[in-house]
Amino acid sequence: MSATISGFSKLSKSEKIDWIVSHYLSNSKSAKQTITQYFNADQKLQQLHDEFIENTITNYYLPLGVAPNFVINNKTYAIPMAIEESSVVAAASNAAKFWMQRGGFKAKVLSTTKIGQVHFVFTGNFEDLKQYFNTIKSKLITDTKPITANMEKRGGGIIDIELRDKTEDLEHYYQLHATFETLDAMGANFINSCLEQFAKTFKTEADKYLSAPIEIVMSILSNYVPNCLVRAEVSCKVEDLKNKTISGIAFAEKFVRAVNIAEIEPYRAVTHNKGIMNGIDAVVLATGNDFRAVEAGVHAYAVKNGKYSSLTHAKIEEGVFTFWIELPLALGTVGGLTGLHPLVKVALDILGKPSAKELMQIVAVAGLAQNFAALRSLTTTGIQEGHMKMHLMNILNQINATHEEKEEIIQHFKTHTVTHSAVVSEIEKLRQ
Ligand code: HMG
Repeated sequence: MSATISGFSKLSKSEKIDWIVSHYLSNSKSAKQTITQYFNADQKLQQLHDEFIENTITNYYLPLGVAPNFVINNKTYAIPMAIEESSVVAAASNAAKFWMQRGGFKAKVLSTTKIGQVHFVFTGNFEDLKQYFNTIKSKLITDTKPITANMEKRGGGIIDIELRDKTEDLEHYYQLHATFETLDAMGANFINSCLEQFAKTFKTEADKYLSAPIEIVMSILSNYVPNCLVRAEVSCKVEDLKNKTISGIAFAEKFVRAVNIAEIEPYRAVTHNKGIMNGIDAVVLATGNDFRAVEAGVHAYAVKNGKYSSLTHAKIEEGVFTFWIELPLALGTVGGLTGLHPLVKVALDILGKPSAKELMQIVAVAGLAQNFAALRSLTTTGIQEGHMKMHLMNILNQINATHEEKEEIIQHFKTHTVTHSAVVSEIEKLRQ
């Protein structure tokens, strides 16, 4: 089944649902019921969600979990995480509990500068362009005053604008490369508004100074923010890593080797970093931030030395194990969804209404914790034991287990290995 339509955006929500159900869902009553059963009973709240995006037909739930016991810079947090994947919240909680007993996490914001660019084409002489830029630079900044006034009052704003000659890479291509401090705001709208004003002034004034015209290609912030960096780390004496089955030094050496592999082998690094992003995205999403922007920027950072590599690092020095992460995170705790989505507000309240800098530290720690838990499992029991233990409930739901069946099966798998077929076979035995 397929169909096209003109004017879909102008239909009411129920007309959109009817159109989709009739043209793409074989007029299925149950599909329509699934769509509508996710409506919120509170009409105002539903309308708020409808208006976040366009052509909304219903809500798409993700679970919001909490990972307690995170000690970060001697302050204790419970970290809210929005994610669909089982074992992520458990793993974060597990790592938090482990490090709580070993001094907790230390985190530090290294820099907070964000970037935006006006991309333009100029066919004239570069020296003339340079001179024009130097003449016009202060006007570029003063013309944005109506946009920057409030941000400046709070201590942020435009840091600098540079002219960049990119003609070696692309004929006639130049940039206004601007840097910004946006404080507690992620700053996308602020930066884009400033850039569009730069472009306007830069193009208009060019007629007075240059013989060749300036052709603006586009004005847009960059999601690559290598100067908006945060570092988080844990460390302890090697012997404090021991457990019933492995000595501290054996564990530390295995762990460091696993990190070293992710540092040099891109196939492993991608999976290793995916595990880190399990933690990062979940907190970014729960706090109403843009996880696509974070993902894009983080992966660009992971390849900054020309080869895709691990975001985390580990070492053993003088009997001390240290494990750390350094990554770029452009986050906001004001503006965007942060003031609009009631659950985002709750998530930020759980975190004690953090500043953007504090949130950067929390998110980096969530990524580090996630990686610690995954590597600890990978280098000792293997990932499946813990992951499948958590995934058991998903399998039971897939096979429509009743409450009583779930209880029996969970009990059984406390002492047996969880696999999909083992669970199916166990339930079949129960149902006979
Ligand atoms: P365990 O040692 O069997 O857990 O670990 P436990 O039952 O002894 O409980 C210890 C603590 O773990 C608990 O303390 C919780 O903090 C947490 P308590 O609350 O009892 O005081 N915990 C839980 N929290 C919430 N709900 C639960 C729960 N169970 C334990 N049900 C665990 C079990 C799964 C935590 C462990 O095996 C683990 O950390 N595994 C790693 C799982 C993981 O990394 N999952 C991510 C998905 S896999 C993936 O996509 C990434 C990967 O490919 C990345 C990579 O390759 O690097 C692996």
